[in-house]
This record gives sequence, C-alpha cells and structure tokens, in this order.
Amino acid sequence: MEDIITITVIDREGATHTIEMPTDMNLNLMEVCKGEGFPIKGTCGGMALCSTCHMYIESDHELSEMTDDEEDMLDQAFFVEDNSRLGCQIYPGQSHDGLIVRLAPEDESA
Ligand code: FES
Repeated sequence: MEDIITITVIDREGATHTIEMPTDMNLNLMEVCKGEGFPIKGTCGGMALCSTCHMYIESDHELSEMTDDEEDMLDQAFFVEDNSRLGCQIYPGQSHDGLIVRLAPEDESA
C-alpha cells in the first residue's frame, strides 16, 4: 500500500526488527514503537518533556529540524550521542522508507 513505509528498529539487546507503519495517520516514532510492543515509556505523551522515547537515528534520512524543546530535553538526557533524537518529535513520511533507529538505553531516573 502506498501509505505504508518500512522502518528498522534495533532494540536494547541489539536485535533488529523490521516493522511497517502508515504515514497517513500522523503517528510519531514513539507511538509506532510503543504500539509495536517495544519497551518505550513515552511518559509525557509526546510533549518532548521526558526523554523516555530517546533513540538514535542510524540511517541518513533527512528528518525534521529539532525544536528548542527537543534540544533542551536531550540536553538533560543520558547516553546522548550526535544522532540522538526524541522519537515523539519525528513524524515519518514517505521519504523515510527504510529509516533505521536504535533505542537508547533506558534512563532509570525517568
Ligand atoms: S514521549 Fe516524552 S519526550 Fe518523547
């Protein structure tokens, strides 16, 4: 189907999972991963206020710019790397087919 893309999620144990997601439902990566059963809390419900949806973008797809809120939250997060993003702030579209993300280690304090 045209509105479906495939993304790869690498879990915290290093296992690779290929999942399909619709791009016409305004879903963000946190919601998609959570819906697929990955252990992502998404405590703040996608408001860029908790960093429990922290993930690393492993492919070179072009993504939306980080907002100040996302940047501020990542400043306070643990295990931050150059390719860190908050999953809840990324809404994949057709151009993100083949996206690869890796879940960041769980922040026990979150
Ligand atoms: S779900 Fe809280 S920052 Fe993404």
